[in-house]
Amino acid sequence: MVNQRAVNFGAGPSALPESVLEEACKGLLNFQGTGIGIAEISHRSKEFTSLLADLENNIRTQLDVPLTHKIIFTQGGGTGQFSAVVLNMLARHRLLHPNLSDEQRVMDYVLTGSWSKKAAAEAKRLGGASVHTVVDARTKSIDSKSFDGIPAHADFDFSVDPALIYYCENETVDGVQFSNDETSPASFPFHLLPTGGLWPLVADYSSSFMSRKIPRIADHAVIFAGAQKNVGPAGLTILIVRQDCIVDVDAAAQLGATPVPITMSYKTIADAGSLYNTPSTLSIYIAHLVLERSKKLGGIEYFESVNKRKAQRVYAALREGADRGFYHLKVKEGSGSWMNIVFNVLKNGDDAESKFLIGAEALGMKGLKGHRSVGGIRISLYNAITEEQTDNLVAYIKGWTTPESITLSS
Ligand SMILES: Cc1ncc(COP(=O)(O)O)c(C=O)c1O
Repeated sequence: MVNQRAVNFGAGPSALPESVLEEACKGLLNFQGTGIGIAEISHRSKEFTSLLADLENNIRTQLDVPLTHKIIFTQGGGTGQFSAVVLNMLARHRLLHPNLSDEQRVMDYVLTGSWSKKAAAEAKRLGGASVHTVVDARTKSIDSKSFDGIPAHADFDFSVDPALIYYCENETVDGVQFSNDETSPASFPFHLLPTGGLWPLVADYSSSFMSRKIPRIADHAVIFAGAQKNVGPAGLTILIVRQDCIVDVDAAAQLGATPVPITMSYKTIADAGSLYNTPSTLSIYIAHLVLERSKKLGGIEYFESVNKRKAQRVYAALREGADRGFYHLKVKEGSGSWMNIVFNVLKNGDDAESKFLIGAEALGMKGLKGHRSVGGIRISLYNAITEEQTDNLVAYIKGWTTPESITLSS
């Protein structure tokens, strides 16, 4: 059965390591010799709480999370955090500045793709402060309407004392990622942030979490990620929250802040050790297996070097194909994501992309269709995709020059 598995280049939920899935099958039947499956055991059992502590410890050590920050687990995905970060950070700001009006309170959003755009729309919907666009990358793009790169640092316009400064580190749909090299023009402009105090810097790391080190991790107020790309199945949301952002949201509500639903309050989750209510036990278990495997392989350094090589090889093949007129890379050089590579197939008729997908599928490579909102092709190279699988795809990309033999199924 395992041999019939396709290579899943999908953007999420996405590939998980086969060894982990095999191990998880055993745990589903009998978790750690308890005689009870992981999906059946109490989240308050000592076996499960110890596993949760191990998961936290694995994230802390592999990512070098400082003790100023708590690691907490919740549900609701990245989308849940679009709301939760706003409510928690507005509560913090209200406690710091109780007398500001909603108009005077500002939330800064950096727009580099569809996900940060969605997050900003949710912030607007929730209200409680005005939303300031630090920069909209579309206005700096080649066609003035696409998200095709990280804008120049000079284009970022931060507010003086915002309640939060939001960015999405890797835009899964558009294939745009901030560079992890601080000397790159496509890096996040940390040096431009307002001076003094603790930055209310919030980062969506949903599609790059645990794929490489997080630059300036200690300077972030909140980092969040759904597990379903590099870490495990959907259903688990991981947060790294600086302690000053874990505030008494009810005290803030008494001062006029929007009340925070109890399961979204960082303080409620943190005080309860991420067990205020029933967590996603199965997802937590599989995430634990994934990160134990990562640790054995060499941790984040190992994945950083493998992921860099994988992305370099795919980009090189696409650039070479682009020079021959076969492909169009949608993202400017330097801003291209390591995790999600987006491009168009140009030659061999209007249905070139359908043919490309059919040809890939015939070779067992699936999940390559671009997001429905932007079309094209998207290759997701999350941690579970091996170098060998990447090389097979690269060979296909390079060889895809005379696909007349590929017939479209009706
Ligand atoms: C960067 C990013 N942020 C947020 C989300 C939304 O996550 P969820 O579907 O877990 O709510 C996604 C989903 O793919 C994503 O890629």
